[in-house]
Amino acid sequence: MPAGKVVKYGGQEHVELERVGVEEARSTAFVLVAGGLGERLGYSGIKVELPVEQASETKYLELYVKNILALQNREASGDGVSVGCCGAKSTAGAEVKSQMIPLAIMTSDDTHEKTLSLLEKNDYFGASKEQVTLIKQEKVPCLIDNDAHLALKDDDQYKLQLKPHGHGDVHSLLHTSGLLSKWMSQGKKWVVFFQDTNSLVFRVIPGALGVSKSMNLEFNSLCVPRKAKEAVGAISLLTHTDGRKMTINVEYNQLDPLLRATTNPDGDVNDTTGFSPFPGNINQLIVSLPEYAKQLKKTGGAIEEFVNPKYKDSTKTTFKSPTRLECMMQDYPKSLGTKAKVGFTVFDNWVGYSPVKNSPADGLAKFKNGDPTHTATSGEFEFYECCAEMLRLAGADIPAATIDQEFNGMKLPMGPRVVIGPNFASTFEELKAKIGKLKMTATSTLIIDGADVSIKNLDLDGTLIVNVVKGHSVVIDGVVKNKGWNWKSIGGGFGSRKIREIDALRGFTVEKKPENEARFIFEQPGSSKVPSAK
Ligand code: UTP
Repeated sequence: MPAGKVVKYGGQEHVELERVGVEEARSTAFVLVAGGLGERLGYSGIKVELPVEQASETKYLELYVKNILALQNREASGDGVSVGCCGAKSTAGAEVKSQMIPLAIMTSDDTHEKTLSLLEKNDYFGASKEQVTLIKQEKVPCLIDNDAHLALKDDDQYKLQLKPHGHGDVHSLLHTSGLLSKWMSQGKKWVVFFQDTNSLVFRVIPGALGVSKSMNLEFNSLCVPRKAKEAVGAISLLTHTDGRKMTINVEYNQLDPLLRATTNPDGDVNDTTGFSPFPGNINQLIVSLPEYAKQLKKTGGAIEEFVNPKYKDSTKTTFKSPTRLECMMQDYPKSLGTKAKVGFTVFDNWVGYSPVKNSPADGLAKFKNGDPTHTATSGEFEFYECCAEMLRLAGADIPAATIDQEFNGMKLPMGPRVVIGPNFASTFEELKAKIGKLKMTATSTLIIDGADVSIKNLDLDGTLIVNVVKGHSVVIDGVVKNKGWNWKSIGGGFGSRKIREIDALRGFTVEKKPENEARFIFEQPGSSKVPSAK
């Protein structure tokens, strides 16, 4: 077992880790790897332009940028609490001069233009243009057989077929682009890597940064509990016969034979917790910048390559389709010395991991197998449920996700649709301080965002939207009752031309009628009490 920490979201230890982490976030640079083809999802655009959920229609990239800005703009707090309950003044001292938190996005030829245009069209979602840098990875030639003959394009026999080289390219690109040196000169201390569709990642980043800082980790892999033999890479401590040690992601299909051949004849089995002792890597990584920059000066960021051909049959002579050399960003610790402090942070699935990778058809097959579907449908409901659970932990009375409606053939538990925006709270402690009494029905929808919003007493049966700019403080106090919004299945309609692609991916549309909602949007500074004021 490698060094690491299992963190219970909302517990006292978590609150303390977040206090540390949220301060460290000011000295952090974020890196989004978004060069992947997304073949499994089968969406015609780029994954980061997809809405996370249909209630607020926030796009993945927008959510990430806004979370970074929320971390950047929050008031520094001596005691970790920046906004008191019910609009009370900050308990914190002076506002720290805002320092920009950089974001680098790795794109590829498949995603570059669309990512740039998404940012340009949306005014960088409120970020300054200088704080966002796009770095583009190149594709590599494909191989056609076991002798590594090069594959030619089907439509042009004088051109090589090319495919992406894997997210491991991010390390060399950060080095050669000069970004690492720039961040070092800006006094940054950490680099956080995250992937294109995990809407929950910023829920756990402050706590995980707290773990990196308190355990002095050079490399920290964010993980979730992993059932034995589950198809997720496992973080493990490998010890060589000559005594060298390395903490690294071991692919699930290699873990079981490795354990059988070494420490456990039973292989990859659950322990008394009901999970494998080796946590599941979700590939959100935190590195300590000074050590990382120094190491990359030595290696140039080169990552060990591998090849993973899919064969037509068991003779393993013919490939199903051309393959290529790839590299993975989680393999970076392989280049580190034995003394490097490499570890992990485990959070529960509900708060840390909700990828959207699979098409409706593949998701349905996984659903029938009892596996997580990782579809746009599950991604949406998991986001709501995570927000609802955070509010429950903060004392709210919110029914469990139990409605079994069928979307794209999958019956996934649906509860109240809760969207807590990035500005409402960056940490659990901040969230808790803003929640007084809150009760809502299972069919309700609550969308709430704004740094100075708090709930004193809310009884909700229907749809309530509160969205407030910084400088306008709002106290929610009262009963809201209306017909609410309706999540309507589009039946077996995906593939039909009339249905928008993003709706087809989820299997539903949301019927939003103005008469069925209470909406409070404040765009100018001031103070208000809702629902009584408009
Ligand atoms: P995925 O495993 O989801 O792969 O990548 P993918 O290529 O996006 O999707 P499929 O396999 O074709 O269905 C994990 C993360 O790594 C990024 C992806 O954008 C995603 O954020 N990635 C992957 C890159 O940035 N570059 C690559 O060459 C591959």
